[in-house]
Amino acid sequence: MSGDIRPVLELAGIRKQFAGVDALRDVQLRLYPGEIHALMGQNGAGKSTLIKVLTGALPSGGGSMRLDGQAIHPASPLEAQKLGISTVYQEVNLCPNLSVAENVFAGRYPRRGAAEGFRIDWAAVNRRARELLARIGLDIDVARLLSSYPVAVQQMVAIARALGVSSKVLILDEPTSSLDDDEVRKLFEVLRKLRGEGLAIVFVTHFLNQVYAVSDRITVLRNGTWVGEWRAADLGPQALIAAMLGRELAAQSGRAAALPPFDIAAPALLEAQGLGQAGLLQPIDLLVRAGEIVGLAGLLGAGRTELARLLFGLEAPDRGQLRIDGEVASFASPADAIRHGLALCPEERKTDGIVAELSVRENIALALQARLGARRFLSRAEQTALAERFVEALGIKTASVETPIGLLSGGNQQKAMIARWLATEPRLLILDEPTRGIDVGAKQEIMAQILRLAKGGMAVLFISSEMSEVVRVAHRIVVLRDRSKVGELPAGSSEDEVCELIAATHE
Ligand SMILES: Nc1ncnc2c1ncn2[C@@H]1O[C@H](COP(=O)(O)OP(=O)(O)OP(=O)(O)O)[C@@H](O)[C@H]1O
Ligand SMILES: [Mg+2]
Repeated sequence: MSGDIRPVLELAGIRKQFAGVDALRDVQLRLYPGEIHALMGQNGAGKSTLIKVLTGALPSGGGSMRLDGQAIHPASPLEAQKLGISTVYQEVNLCPNLSVAENVFAGRYPRRGAAEGFRIDWAAVNRRARELLARIGLDIDVARLLSSYPVAVQQMVAIARALGVSSKVLILDEPTSSLDDDEVRKLFEVLRKLRGEGLAIVFVTHFLNQVYAVSDRITVLRNGTWVGEWRAADLGPQALIAAMLGRELAAQSGRAAALPPFDIAAPALLEAQGLGQAGLLQPIDLLVRAGEIVGLAGLLGAGRTELARLLFGLEAPDRGQLRIDGEVASFASPADAIRHGLALCPEERKTDGIVAELSVRENIALALQARLGARRFLSRAEQTALAERFVEALGIKTASVETPIGLLSGGNQQKAMIARWLATEPRLLILDEPTRGIDVGAKQEIMAQILRLAKGGMAVLFISSEMSEVVRVAHRIVVLRDRSKVGELPAGSSEDEVCELIAATHE
């Protein structure tokens, strides 16, 4: 940034406390027009809190905010938006059963004049929604239901909704966590276009490569404090990790955990033969042995989640056979699968698992209690011990195990969900994108737990879009493409080999 350009937004000395505990202490942020600024930090570092304070979603606990040199005190996100600060939050709150246009304008519909009773001007709603979407390069039918479009499009709709006419600052909290590579590229094109129009864009992500692909500058928070601000070109990935984690942790996180040896002659724990469902998944053969970590690689939509759901009794296969310990098994529901020792940690933590108003303790104990059934209740003390063990092991940042889980940061909620399924000590654990939204340090902790359990004989089916992770932890990699299995690769295969298999055209 050259010295003569003034920041469009300047935050200084920002504080925020929750129940007497500092979530933000003396935090600053400077944004210039026409830049993409990455806001980085571990899970619970305070990124979302800073954004919520800045946009009036949470009251500030002190400090100053200046927009174009003028002090501002937005009391609500709507007020912030009127000032020109637009936000897409980590938890996208759109309505799937409203139309695209309705989602863009819900709560602030353009209305007709007094003579017509201030009725909503639907023609204007649709026209202006089309204009806003065109601004970010999206040409879709705005009258269709939002749910009829893929997540990536829904994400763009959220951005269009956020972008007011007079936006100066656009804030995106983990916008890419459920997008595939192609969709991320498209999103970045949109961000670059908006940057070209002079917007200042704040971008939160846990994907380090994305930081370098798109951002001009980086601000790092650690434990609610400001660590520093750099030009992206001046802060390499190692230095960035060190800034986020602190020196000691960064040194540890560089060390790759060793893949536990696994007995190739171990008996098959789970064996699928020609398992499939019309329209969902082509017939698939899959073998998982005790103590084996099988990676499931493929692009978004390749059928990985569908396979997990079939194995776990969430979908009923209409062909093929499933065997557990050599015995034919058929699961009418997840309860059947759980009885056979399976567990599935699903991908969509918001919809599939978190009970926001229950405590961290109750959320972690939930699946184990369900497995034990009504005959064996976990005492409060047992639940506490269990929860505290996992809070420690996975580094879940929470004031106590009695804190309602909804008050934890997004990544820490995700860690608690993994703990919930690890606690059941399943024989086969299916993890669907377990490290999404999780910071680099916590990823290591989760991988270490998985490797430790595998060493003890637990089998793991590991689904991840991050190829580097799959090749590092898997004894064997099963590759899916277009809802069918295209091959298997042994441990030690490279990312390139997996990519080749994914990209290979059908013969
Ligand atoms: N409403 C709340 N009440 C109490 N504590 C809260 C509340 N909101 C956030 N916190 C705490 O403030 C801290 C910062 O959380 P925040 O959500 O800002 O983290 P984050 O950097 O966005 O993390 P992530 O990468 O996991 O999304 C966390 O310890 C969190 O538990
Ligand atoms: Mg967050």
